[in-house]
Amino acid sequence: MATFTRDTHIFQDEDMLRDDYQPETITARESELDAYQTALQPVINGAQPRNIFLYGKTGVGKTAVSRYILEQLQQDTQQYDDVTLSVFWLNCTNLSSSYQVAVNLVNTLRPNDEQISTTGYPQQRVFDLLYTELDAIGGTILIVLDEIDHIGTDDEILYEIPRARSNDYLTTTKPGVIGISNDFSFRDNLSPKVKDTLCEEEIHFSPYTAPELEAILERRAEGALYEDATESGVLSLCAALAAQDSGSARQTLDLLYQAGELARAADRTQITEDDVYAARNKLERSQIEQGMRELTRHGHLSLVAVLQLALDSNAPFRVRDIYPAYRTIAEQSEIDPLVRRRMHDHLADLAMLGILDRQSRNEGRSGGQYYEYEFAVDLDLVATVVTDFDGITLPQRVRNVTQSVE
Ligand SMILES: Nc1ncnc2c1ncn2[C@@H]1O[C@H](COP(=O)(O)OP(=O)(O)O)[C@@H](O)[C@H]1O
Ligand SMILES: [Mg+2]
Repeated sequence: MATFTRDTHIFQDEDMLRDDYQPETITARESELDAYQTALQPVINGAQPRNIFLYGKTGVGKTAVSRYILEQLQQDTQQYDDVTLSVFWLNCTNLSSSYQVAVNLVNTLRPNDEQISTTGYPQQRVFDLLYTELDAIGGTILIVLDEIDHIGTDDEILYEIPRARSNDYLTTTKPGVIGISNDFSFRDNLSPKVKDTLCEEEIHFSPYTAPELEAILERRAEGALYEDATESGVLSLCAALAAQDSGSARQTLDLLYQAGELARAADRTQITEDDVYAARNKLERSQIEQGMRELTRHGHLSLVAVLQLALDSNAPFRVRDIYPAYRTIAEQSEIDPLVRRRMHDHLADLAMLGILDRQSRNEGRSGGQYYEYEFAVDLDLVATVVTDFDGITLPQRVRNVTQSVE
């Protein structure tokens, strides 16, 4: 029979290592906090808020810092009777257009029994519904659009909300938008009118250095782990590995959490440096696995084609070898193959994701440059993942190994 008993080593409060845990204090972001505070100052003065745009890679504290400072602002506005502040958050991860963002905002602002359908309205009608809701609330409203880069170039909403007051769509409400993006190119590709309105105040979050990550990690580990749960050097190793790779606090927390799980699973009372290295490998593997799963259909086909070649002959492979294999697999799966050039783009994507290695070669004096590809990851891992690809008929050769892997 299985018996559960509570951890008495390693984890004291493992939730504190999770991504959604909101730390009470923010470490190592003084200048960003200062800039943020300055940008929000009009709110406490009861003036029209500025629009703020935050950008920086994933895991560098954009969401945590925003939550922290907006909570502070909400507390501090309470002492002024003439300022009422409402803050609304929308995570845009699964939203791909301004229309969808607007519908979701309307539904965020409306009670549960008055939700609108996510399709079928003309765009302007949804914006009108949004203004009605916003104006009914009154006071100052800050709308945080987190992960806003998912809407791509369909960015009308980022112009609409900030301009709503000057366009007389709103009479009692002062709206401000805070846009948060992981993707630098999103900012550059915004339409010019959006750039002018949204990017009044820009705050850039740079990757953390190793000492900064260590300081963040120490604070978290203090509550999350039992005393003496780590061998000396473990926290600085987690910080160093994350600093070398991404500078992301999320990554360094994940490393410690995963390393702790390995120690716990092995019934040890301390997390060792070896656990951290093992955790890194495990996380890398699952990241690559996820990267493979999220590819488009032609990405999947290209991957299967390279896998087939890798099972039959020695890597690396040229595009002129990969392409025919790709075509055959596409045809057997009843998918129209792309032209060679387009398929090559997918190979380049696979290389960018760290799934393939790509080498450029020169064809001697006759000129001409070409690329060679081979897997940067275990074939076993690839073989396991491709069995889950929907709608692709795997070649016999690939099916044989996937059966033996399972
Ligand atoms: N300066 C910081 N101080 C304390 N914790 C932080 C800091 N920066 C990031 N974190 C923590 O790291 C994780 C990722 O941060 P997050 O704000 O979600 O990153 P982003 O939104 O930039 O992707 C969260 O668990 C967060 O609490
Ligand atoms: Mg975030």
